[in-house]
Amino acid sequence: MINPSQLERRKTFAIISHPDAGKTTLTEKFLLFGGAIQTAGAVKSNKIKKSATSDFMEIERQRGISVATSVMVFDYKGFRINLLDTPGHKDFAEDTYRTLTAVDSVILVIDCVKGVEEQTERLMQVCRMRNTPVIIFVNKMDREGKDPFDLLDELEEKLKIKVRPLSWPIGIGATFKGVYDLFREELMVFNPNKTTIEKEVTRIKNLDDPALEEKVGNQLAKQLREDVELIQGVYEPFTADQYREAHLAPVFFGSAINNFGVQELLENFISIAPTPGSRPTQQREVSPLEPKFSGFVFKIHANLDPRHRDRIAFVRVCSGKFERNAVYKHVRLSKNLRFAAPFSFMAQEKNVLEDAWPGDVVGLYDTGNFKIGDTLTEGEDLMFQGIPNFSPEIFREVINTDPLKTKQLDKGIMQLTDEGVAQLFILSGGHRKVIGTVGELQFDVIQYRLQHEYGASCRFSPMPIQKACWITAEKQSDLQEFMKFRAQQIAQDKDGMPVFLAESEWVLRMVMEKNPGIQFHFTSEFKMQAASAT
Ligand code: G4P
Repeated sequence: MINPSQLERRKTFAIISHPDAGKTTLTEKFLLFGGAIQTAGAVKSNKIKKSATSDFMEIERQRGISVATSVMVFDYKGFRINLLDTPGHKDFAEDTYRTLTAVDSVILVIDCVKGVEEQTERLMQVCRMRNTPVIIFVNKMDREGKDPFDLLDELEEKLKIKVRPLSWPIGIGATFKGVYDLFREELMVFNPNKTTIEKEVTRIKNLDDPALEEKVGNQLAKQLREDVELIQGVYEPFTADQYREAHLAPVFFGSAINNFGVQELLENFISIAPTPGSRPTQQREVSPLEPKFSGFVFKIHANLDPRHRDRIAFVRVCSGKFERNAVYKHVRLSKNLRFAAPFSFMAQEKNVLEDAWPGDVVGLYDTGNFKIGDTLTEGEDLMFQGIPNFSPEIFREVINTDPLKTKQLDKGIMQLTDEGVAQLFILSGGHRKVIGTVGELQFDVIQYRLQHEYGASCRFSPMPIQKACWITAEKQSDLQEFMKFRAQQIAQDKDGMPVFLAESEWVLRMVMEKNPGIQFHFTSEFKMQAASAT
């Protein structure tokens, strides 16, 4: 068994949000508190400016930034915190979904003016799928936002999770005076402050303390007393277990840009967020305390430097101790590999690391060995589960425009889809290749990278497809019959699994209704379940 203290001090999480809610700002403030950066403004905004959606250089610049900030490690009050970055742009949502497979919890940022937005709902769906514990931070309380009770109702309804406020705002926008910590019964007075991390805290004995009037005025003091009474009447007391089991999301209010409510969030986070837990593999459950190392690749990043074709594979350590220069088994390839220069990301710098523990992320230079989801072990044949592909939404056929470079094109497409940039579907027995993505931008990225990294060129021809679902059936004969009848709409994914391509949601619904014997899957997660059942 490894030393449990290594586990107990580790928290691995991601901050997620709809673009513009304040993810980058909150990340930066956390790094300030953790001492990983010294001044505000040091974290470059990890988002593609809306005006430059087709600017290749912008995409490349963005990718350069995001590799530097992919994992931010800092220490806070004895805890080792691994903060995994997720791209804000919705076209890179799948990258975000996969990063969520490598964390133990998330902080979800909501803009109090906009409430729950489209991307917030989708991200939450992924958290629900994996039972990931969620803390909600309602940001931008210095703006005229929605009524906090209405917001809580909206969170419960749209995110489909029970919520429990642990802090409560006093006023909002122009009248925002601070937040009341419902747990510690402390009043934090709002003092707009964009650069330093000081704050004013007033301890009040109880809500009848006249200090409350002094600090926030008669009207807001009265309002706070009424609100707190209502909260205590309506919401059950908070238990950390319910949160860790992903049944309940605690909610905090603040203003990240003003450093307000951020430290309280961080303090609560370290006290309640889960430490690295057991993880399922196709073979068995792996405990983080096991002495032998195991981990999986959740992200692959191409090297920006055109002189180096290698890539960086990000491995989440799941059990045991990872050591530099040790020999590990790449389970899918059944091949032994040794890593002389694994690295970590302390204080935003890449440093060669000697060892790493469960919850940590190790960067490995890769010359093409890795695919998303690959497992490394000390010899045991394990495959971690739950690193799914999601059903893409935009489909285009690849048309080769330089037949002399066919081999390069095929290799490029295989490698880019291994990295998870997009998904590949094969039609007509291998003659036609269709790329499926969740965003338009991916096609620009693929075309650019095929040309610059592989010397191949292609164009994309739109396909009249809106949805792709993996299909299975209990009776093989049902599946065969369905595939024969619908041959024009059947493709294969990279692993040879059959996929149904639907022209529209309506067609899909109709086909699903007419074929009750066929199961339609919107993520590839079922493949793991199917494999582990055999
Ligand atoms: P994102 O990563 O989720 O996309 O959001 P980001 O942190 O970049 O924040 C989006 C915008 O919201 C930024 O303004 C940021 O300054 C602002 N913001 C973040 N937190 C707060 C807050 O507590 N209150 C208010 N009023 N604004 C906040 P921007 O104008 O788009 O960018 P910038 O020029 O300020 O960098």
